Amino acid sequence: MAALEIRNLSKTYRSPGRKPFTALRDLSLAVPEGGIYGFLGPNGAGKSTTIKILVGLIRKTGGEAYVLGRPAEDLTSHQEMGYLPEVSTYYPYLTCRELLDFYCSFFGLSRRKRVSRIGETLALTGLTSKTDTPVRELSKGMQQRLGIAQAVIHDPPLLILDEPTAALDPLIQKEVRDIILKFRDQGKTIFFSSHRLTEVEYICDRVAVLHEGRLLLEGRLAELLEGPSPDCDVTFSAEEGEIWDRWRNSGVPVARITASPQTFQARFPQKEIKQRVSEILSSRGSLLSVTPVRRNLEDLFVKMIAEASHETG
Ligand SMILES: Nc1ncnc2c1ncn2[C@@H]1O[C@H](COP(=O)(O)OP(=O)(O)OP(=O)(O)O)[C@@H](O)[C@H]1O
Ligand SMILES: [Mg+2]
Repeated sequence: MAALEIRNLSKTYRSPGRKPFTALRDLSLAVPEGGIYGFLGPNGAGKSTTIKILVGLIRKTGGEAYVLGRPAEDLTSHQEMGYLPEVSTYYPYLTCRELLDFYCSFFGLSRRKRVSRIGETLALTGLTSKTDTPVRELSKGMQQRLGIAQAVIHDPPLLILDEPTAALDPLIQKEVRDIILKFRDQGKTIFFSSHRLTEVEYICDRVAVLHEGRLLLEGRLAELLEGPSPDCDVTFSAEEGEIWDRWRNSGVPVARITASPQTFQARFPQKEIKQRVSEILSSRGSLLSVTPVRRNLEDLFVKMIAEASHETG
């Protein structure tokens, strides 16, 4: 069974006096159980719309959506699902402990179980020292971690996180990534949306890329990034002048990477490598390395979105 399954899902928003707007068209994807699944797409692609349908906050207008084998409208799956909304505001006068206790009350946990889960969850999200601090006194990053804490308070096997690292500084982003990895190691399924392609590349097993409500790409990240790379980075040492000047004057993008000894790096298509290496050697330079450039998600993403935008005009 897939943790999440969507078949030909469509959503058209309708409001009185306004033209209907179709945010999702014929979207199909399956998120397997266990592992981290990244849901990507530019602003307005339809990520939050999909997520809101999955968690039962809004209704689809076509197709099917299943959560842990049950239709998304069946809210009983909420016992086994944790959700971090894109924008969350929590009651400001409650302390972290009180807020989490309130969330526990939705899941019928015993008094004893509540106390232990609140302690464990605050520790996991790095908020133990803020246990008795009111929400209004927390920084944005802490509130985001509290949002993750409320999503996991009942220890669900499935987590749906809508941009868990948005608006966080790089240090906290890493902390949140590490928290997500911990959940993965506990065997949970994590489905999260993000714009941060490098972060997705660090932690996801599978990704889907959405554009204007349609699926552009889906698959195992390692397989999507595979394939022969057209470029190589060439690192070499050489005297000032000589090849460095010659290449720069002819527009070759070469950068100095250390001053003493002088080392340089330039990127060339694979078919030019032989010629470039012999230019380095014949101008008394020393070759240090030739490294194929790994394809990255950002290149792939930008290329796919550009192609899709071109097609849709
Ligand atoms: N309640 C609504 N009524 C009408 N249109 C809406 C509504 N909610 C979202 N939309 C539109 O649907 C499209 C998809 O929005 P959605 O919030 O799903 O995008 P997203 O991929 O989550 O974007 P972001 O990365 O900016 O969060 C957008 O064009 C948005 O304006
Ligand atoms: Mg969104």
